[in-house]
Amino acid sequence: MPANPQENVLPIEGSGRVLARYDRRIGSILAEEGKLGVEGIEQVMQLQQTNGLRFGEAALRLGLITEDDLRCAVARQYDLPHLLPGNESISGELVVAYEPFHPRAEELRALRTQLLMRWSRAGVRHRALAIASPGSGEGRSYVTANLAVVFSQLGERTLLVDADLRTPRQHRIFNIPDRVGLSAVLSGRADRGAVAPVREFGRLSLLPAGAPPPNPQELLSRPALGVFLQEMWADFDVILFDTPPAKLYADAQNVAFRAGNVIMLARKDHTRLADATSAIRELSDMGVRVVGTVFNAF
Ligand SMILES: Nc1ncnc2c1ncn2[C@@H]1O[C@H](COP(=O)(O)OP(=O)(O)OP(=O)(O)O)[C@@H](O)[C@H]1O
Ligand SMILES: [Mg+2]
Repeated sequence: MPANPQENVLPIEGSGRVLARYDRRIGSILAEEGKLGVEGIEQVMQLQQTNGLRFGEAALRLGLITEDDLRCAVARQYDLPHLLPGNESISGELVVAYEPFHPRAEELRALRTQLLMRWSRAGVRHRALAIASPGSGEGRSYVTANLAVVFSQLGERTLLVDADLRTPRQHRIFNIPDRVGLSAVLSGRADRGAVAPVREFGRLSLLPAGAPPPNPQELLSRPALGVFLQEMWADFDVILFDTPPAKLYADAQNVAFRAGNVIMLARKDHTRLADATSAIRELSDMGVRVVGTVFNAF
């Protein structure tokens, strides 16, 4: 995925002082969630004293909580709102939500860090980003959806716009109706009311693609997209756009032009280097900032 996964360092600290704080917090999170009562906490602390275990480990050993309870509590401690396996409404593709400590989730957080650093260095105020790639099935929708969740997990007010008006998928990933969406906004038949909050992630909203229009490229080249984006800055800190394949249609160019920033995905053993290079060149020539290239190996 990102060029340098080592950039992403999880805040795990090893000193005794920090561990004490960690234990207290895990204990109080488990208590808040009703997983442990006063009696349980006392039992855990006794076992901790005799065995020197961490709070979570001791609670697990006593059979007072499950592995899932502990994972949830740790995720909450690190401010990683996440979903439990078996949640039927939201797609299992959202690895950052279901398995926040999975290596792929770490890579996606590393990508977020890279983006934030590059934007900060370049003094970018409006953080709008199109996720593009030359061909189909290269992982644009997957990366865009997961990236939107990791930005929202950081507390950023995040809007995901499904600007793939040809084969849209974000409404299915997030289980949001797509009757009204970007196509209606661009043709003046809907307004910001078409933006739907994603209940499961407090700070994330989705504008689905909506009904498939006969003229996606023409719609996306209208000034309406720029006007919509301007309006959205009052409510959002980060806006991400999913796009259709850049080699097949000019849609991604239009979207990237309005967003001002793009990342180019290349799928391992799939995307031709020449296609990625020429897509990057075309976008740069239009004045779009190519923030980086992401190698999607899956
Ligand atoms: N990094 C990844 N790890 C695991 N699975 C992935 C990864 N990237 C993509 N996939 C999977 O590959 C498939 C295609 O990905 P996706 O739909 O995101 O591609 P796309 O570029 O948006 O395709 P389309 O051209 O249809 O819009 C999906 O099933 C997705 O879950
Ligand atoms: Mg897609």
